[in-house]
Amino acid sequence: MYGMVHTAARSMVIETMGEEAWSRVLDQANLNGEHFISGQNYSDDVTFALVGAISRVSGIEASELLKSFGHYWIKYAANSSYGAMFRISGLDLVTFLTNLNRMHASIHSIMPASRMPSFEVLHAEDARIDVLYGSDRTGLFPFVEGLMSGLMEHFGETGHVTHAATAEGDVFSLHREACQISLSGAA
Ligand code: HEM
Repeated sequence: MYGMVHTAARSMVIETMGEEAWSRVLDQANLNGEHFISGQNYSDDVTFALVGAISRVSGIEASELLKSFGHYWIKYAANSSYGAMFRISGLDLVTFLTNLNRMHASIHSIMPASRMPSFEVLHAEDARIDVLYGSDRTGLFPFVEGLMSGLMEHFGETGHVTHAATAEGDVFSLHREACQISLSGAA
């Protein structure tokens, strides 16, 4: 994955555990002294070695870690140099989710070696949004769960996210408890 993902991981580790912990993570992942470059592509082995090392250093299970990282990624990406792309993708959750592929396609044109995921809104109503997720990678479901709950928070919503393997593929359901902008127009 592109270095931007690894610089986000670095930033999360330093914010939560300090600089020294990041040095230990690099040590554990056999990446001693590596300075990730946002616009450079790295093997997925590097990405997954980092996840394993952060898990060992923090004592947090890899799936929990990926979920937290998904949450963190939303804030990181929205405040990154791609923040403008993030903002024009939509002012509410459903519009934003509908535009995600377009947003990733624009990023892909800047990071041509990226393998972006795909998202399709299957169903959207006040109580629940169902999103079909596609990827050629495995093992990222907890990351997607964290991303979706991070997006809910970003758009001022509360609720929880579930995942189900269906005949159509992997579907993430966003169960909305308090939706500030009602789709039906009622207050
Ligand atoms: C400005 C905002 C964003 C930027 C710059 C961005 C950029 C990226 C980049 C560089 C990758 C790595 C792909 C690769 O190197 O092969 C990636 C992967 C990914 N992104 Fe985004 N992204 C953004 C927002 C989002 C949002 C809001 C979601 C929410 C669902 C999301 C979901 C994912 C997922 C799930 C992956 C993992 C790839 C996979 O599933 O195979 N991204 N993104």
